[in-house]
Amino acid sequence: MTVNKNNPIGFFDSGVGGLTVLKEFRNILPNEDCIYFGDTKNMPYGEKSKEQLIEYSKYAFEFFEKQGVKAVVMACNTTSATVYDILKNDYSFKLYPIIQSVTKLLSGLQVDTIGVFATQATVNSHAYSKGIKSFSPEKNIVEIACPDWVKIVENHEENSPEALGKIKEKLSEMLEFRPARIVLGCTHYPFLLPQLSQIADKELFINPAEAFVKFIKADLEFNHLLSENPKNGSDIFYTSSSVEQFVIAGGMFYNLSNAVVKLI
Ligand code: DGL
Repeated sequence: MTVNKNNPIGFFDSGVGGLTVLKEFRNILPNEDCIYFGDTKNMPYGEKSKEQLIEYSKYAFEFFEKQGVKAVVMACNTTSATVYDILKNDYSFKLYPIIQSVTKLLSGLQVDTIGVFATQATVNSHAYSKGIKSFSPEKNIVEIACPDWVKIVENHEENSPEALGKIKEKLSEMLEFRPARIVLGCTHYPFLLPQLSQIADKELFINPAEAFVKFIKADLEFNHLLSENPKNGSDIFYTSSSVEQFVIAGGMFYNLSNAVVKLI
């Protein structure tokens, strides 16, 4: 099948978290048409088995295939860590997994210890640690799972005293290892930057979405797949549960006030 450069790009995440990637993407590639799918019905992915994550990902990829996308951005760290290697050759579009696209760059940081906050499934896979160490074996990588953080974001509860307590607890645990930088290795976590930076210096945290979208742009360019659309591209959003909840939670990070949001 020939891939048309003006076809849309799919964005896949378990919920609103992938909007942190879409936002960075829009900053550097405004002309692309984007179709976003947040599988809110099945989130949190971080607590799911590999079999379940394969099933959800296949569903999403089949949906994107029907939309005729030229590529799918696996914004979700959890599926990048667990199912990318299994499904990567099964589709006609190009797949961009977040973790595998940024570990080389992270390995180049001139620091000894890098912290990674991620979901339980991503931590269990050690995808960040293995990826970074494959380039820089001497680096010390501390991976800590924050199972409650995804629901805090999806429920827009980040300023409740209970949520702030949970954020502080994990950050304090991480800071004991004295990391020079901390990777927010789940797309939902950059939503919590205002709360995290009340406790530690904002510069400590890395949102991998920034490096990720630069990688995607370079790869699309190399493969002559950048859109030739002279105007700003469109966004369409799909969610597998409440549209209203998606707009409330996602609106914290991305302007969804006039957005087309549909139930899949
Ligand atoms: N936001 C996804 C990630 O980047 C998964 C969060 C979840 O649903 O547990 O890992």
